Amino acid sequence: MKNFIKCNDLINFDMSVNQIIDSKKNPTKEIYNKKEKVLGLIFFNPSLRTRLSTQKAAMNLGMKTICMNIKDEGWQLEFDDNVIMNGDKAEHVREAAKVISTYCDIIGIRSFANLSNKKSDLEDKVINSFVKHSTVPIVNLESALSHPLQSLADAITIKEMSKVKNPKIVLSWAPHPKPLPHAVANSFIEMCRLCDFDLTIANPIGYNLDKKITKGYKIINKQIDAFKNADFIYAKNWSCFDDYGKVNIKDNSWTIDENKMSLTNKAYFMHCLPVRRNMIVTDSVLESNSNISITQASNRVHATQFIINELLKNEN
Ligand code: CP
Repeated sequence: MKNFIKCNDLINFDMSVNQIIDSKKNPTKEIYNKKEKVLGLIFFNPSLRTRLSTQKAAMNLGMKTICMNIKDEGWQLEFDDNVIMNGDKAEHVREAAKVISTYCDIIGIRSFANLSNKKSDLEDKVINSFVKHSTVPIVNLESALSHPLQSLADAITIKEMSKVKNPKIVLSWAPHPKPLPHAVANSFIEMCRLCDFDLTIANPIGYNLDKKITKGYKIINKQIDAFKNADFIYAKNWSCFDDYGKVNIKDNSWTIDENKMSLTNKAYFMHCLPVRRNMIVTDSVLESNSNISITQASNRVHATQFIINELLKNEN
């Protein structure tokens, strides 16, 4: 694997999830010499879990990390070619990516969708520019379109926690005061496809995700119908895809509460975090034993360690 940008960059995603679960049970010292290796983390957007879990994964492997909140601390970057750079953007990604590559053995990039330019978001321009111009592997720390490290951790969590062989998983839209990108939902669906999970998507009318991603999956517009007999409820907000970046729902009728959870097969509640309490989900669900969002977050370390190893394997 050269870069990890989408779940299907892993040659065998499902087998990799099983491998990570095995390695959690039987931890062995990593065999690659990573003492001299440096992981660079470049954040265009805020983070708690991704930043800390990635640094922890690197520490576990004996690597060093360097981290930059580039929007606040760095030069503004230009991503378009053939432009006269006479505005605010002082540096082109062509130079920046090559320079960072001389300092790092892997570069992680976080850059969310801006939700104002659909074409640019669909090109996943920022991360793909780094892929194009860097000379070392790139790891996606959440881009405009994908959040594969989150989905790998989610897959580990589902396989570890499932009480049944083929769990019914529901990805449910839930309300949020701000327009949010589609990356987490996109990658979650991609992951379910790669793991052959039984997935149903529940979202209000007008909130269907990109058809190319949801193809073949049942989309239900009545949340309580989707919840019946579910084993896992994965809550996530996303803004409209067709009416791009808009939030047209102002009520909280899709907030997940104990009444809705009682329709399920004693389902676990999942969320990638950060979660808005009493918007996405009520306090009582978050405080119940069904909430496994902290386990998901802790599995981010294991997912990232695995991916770093896979990327550095190419060097040996
Ligand atoms: N789930 C997740 O990626 O969390 P952060 O945005 O805090 O990194």
